[in-house]
Amino acid sequence: MSAQRPEIKVAALQHLQKRKSEKWRAFSREILPMPFAVMDFELAEPIKDAITQLIQDSDAGYLGEIPELGENFSRFASNRWGWSVAPKEVRIAPDVGVAVIEVARLIAKPGEKIIINTPVYYNFFNWIAEIHSLPLDLPLLPPKSPGDPYRLDLNLIESGYRDGAKLHILCHPHNPVGSIYPDEDLHQLAELAGTYGVTILSDEIHSPLIYEAERYRPFLSISDTARDVGISFVSATKAFSFAGLKCAQIVAQSERSEAILNRLPHALHSRASLYGAIASSVAYGQCEPWLDAVIGYLDGARHLLATLVSAKLPGVIYCKPDAGYFGWLDLRNVLKEGEIDDVSNLMIEHGKIAVASGALYGPGGRGFIRINFATSSEILEDAIDRIAAALSQI
Ligand SMILES: Cc1ncc(COP(=O)(O)O)c(C=O)c1O
Repeated sequence: MSAQRPEIKVAALQHLQKRKSEKWRAFSREILPMPFAVMDFELAEPIKDAITQLIQDSDAGYLGEIPELGENFSRFASNRWGWSVAPKEVRIAPDVGVAVIEVARLIAKPGEKIIINTPVYYNFFNWIAEIHSLPLDLPLLPPKSPGDPYRLDLNLIESGYRDGAKLHILCHPHNPVGSIYPDEDLHQLAELAGTYGVTILSDEIHSPLIYEAERYRPFLSISDTARDVGISFVSATKAFSFAGLKCAQIVAQSERSEAILNRLPHALHSRASLYGAIASSVAYGQCEPWLDAVIGYLDGARHLLATLVSAKLPGVIYCKPDAGYFGWLDLRNVLKEGEIDDVSNLMIEHGKIAVASGALYGPGGRGFIRINFATSSEILEDAIDRIAAALSQI
């Protein structure tokens, strides 16, 4: 008998508005908050139970040894991606942002350039600024026609490597455009990095949320060279929606990468939270059925978004992502030049909806907006109605 699929529950808007996390406090109640990277679903039951147990035991001390997290991640990585990871190859950090910053500062000196490929998660700019380095933007190749994926521009990247940049922060799967890089591109990227002595930090936080599992390969699973040049950053916090609990994992699978990570501050581990580490361990170990149900739900939502956009937002282009829960909407046909840089304010003013302006993600994002579709169909429809209302007035 097959196990019953867990139900994915989303509370009504008035209940969501009682939440105390950033998404529900950043704007006043009449504004629908759609830019944040958290899901509106209820937590998976095993995670709720584990957290409740900690509370009942008044167990709220520092995070210590937690071998089960590495063991559960190892099984999860093998089940989801066919990626072989030894538990001892998994280290813990408070979140992906802190982890990337701490590793990047071991490699790039202040003033040195770090490669990114925009449009990309806007905090990459902030992380690089935090260590006083400089971003070297080698933009993604945009889709040739709607529906094509964004691709890495490997020729441009080679020129950046040749010019001396030694660190590259990759976003894979990609936020905000939702693309997965094909194996052959990752393979070539690894070879280039090997040739020019570049280290690749692969931010794979969205990797549990892949719609066609067989199309995604973690960077370190690509080749021996990828393992030599790369360090991966993963986390359960996006796919299981507990970013506030604070825990991420860093994976290194070569002597070279291990040697870099061995220079990290020892306290990085215990700066993560006990709650985040326990929730991550339970997520990887017990919540794959819930994750499969979420992916099924989000698959419906990304298709619903396509239907809503074509019915209600004429001229707007939306391509369904291959991973993650962001709708990356191209408004360039419907916005005038003077409106593009003000689009998020215009949406708030005329549509009572908060969206992320594409310009935040780099020059190639101008004229786009990013919304989160990990919510109920009612809220998603409401969001598109609000965007339509805003566009009709500006
Ligand atoms: C690509 C990417 N990396 C990192 C983060 C932030 O992760 P953390 O909260 O673990 O720092 C996000 C959040 O949306 C993200 O999209």
